[in-house]
Amino acid sequence: MKLETKKILILGGSGFIGNAIYKELCNYFDTYGTYCHAANSFSSNKQFVHYNLEEDDIVEVLEAVKPQVIVSALRGNFAALVIAHNHIVEYITKEDCKIYFISSANVFDTYSKYPSYEMDKTLSESVYGRLKIKIENMLLRLPKDKMAILRVPMVFGNSSPRIKEMKKAIIENAPIEVFPNLILNVTNDDKLTQQIHYLINRNKTGIYHLGSNDLTHHEDFIKEVLERVGNFNAIIKRVYTTNEDRYLAVLPKTNKLPKNLQFTFQDIIDHHVLN
Ligand SMILES: NC(=O)c1ccc[n+]([C@@H]2O[C@H](COP(=O)([O-])OP(=O)(O)OC[C@H]3O[C@@H](n4cnc5c(N)ncnc54)[C@H](OP(=O)(O)O)[C@@H]3O)[C@@H](O)[C@H]2O)c1
Repeated sequence: MKLETKKILILGGSGFIGNAIYKELCNYFDTYGTYCHAANSFSSNKQFVHYNLEEDDIVEVLEAVKPQVIVSALRGNFAALVIAHNHIVEYITKEDCKIYFISSANVFDTYSKYPSYEMDKTLSESVYGRLKIKIENMLLRLPKDKMAILRVPMVFGNSSPRIKEMKKAIIENAPIEVFPNLILNVTNDDKLTQQIHYLINRNKTGIYHLGSNDLTHHEDFIKEVLERVGNFNAIIKRVYTTNEDRYLAVLPKTNKLPKNLQFTFQDIIDHHVLN
């Protein structure tokens, strides 16, 4: 028997982050997930529902599952994502339900001289960052106890697409891009899912910055990770986007997590292993 009966639906449950969250929560809660193209792995799992945001109405999925908690970890067509979240907001307004939205440090990706905190005004130059801001603003109109915005920096980890790409580049003798003037904080799938587990378990809502509590240069970080994964001869390509240091970092100030859930960028580096 599950320890808790809370029903959770992870939109994008077949993805890198969504599936890591599913695995973290499924032994504690009645957890469901959606998949879209990854039918091979998920169509036979009765906890998983097919959902294509370009064809299906999210409300039908919500009415079938009736979750108390929705975790949104989707990628897809930007206009369709906005419409889907609009419908989710309408559903949440009426029902006993709250949403945890995986946002991104990119909501602050305008040239920035400082790291960003929860209450800072969002400002983005990228289409991706602006999409996240648009959905965040929709959620901010919900009652405060019905939504959490989780701003996440780059996610690493042995099974992450970022690390897989780096390993592929090494094998193919292709260059690995680094951004020498970029200062950021980082996370991995394990740390992120533990933090999200805590937030859901404690019914926490509001805005959270879920990254390491210290900062690193992108170039230094990538080089150290490359040493961990066992390659000292990777081809590094330096991409200069600005001449001055630029921050893409989401640090906590208002909504800090307990000490045991905080970590440093070195913890993230140390977690990478040779395989
Ligand atoms: N990875 C990072 O470093 C990072 C950092 C900050 C924020 N985020 C955010 O975290 C979220 C998840 O990212 P991720 O890296 O886990 O991405 P991902 O591995 O590409 O997963 C995306 C998920 O969306 C689903 N999806 C794709 N197209 C769809 C469609 N047309 N209809 C319905 N579902 C669709 C995928 O399902 P199928 O695979 O079954 O098609 C998958 O479950 C995103 O919102 C991203 O912006 C990621």
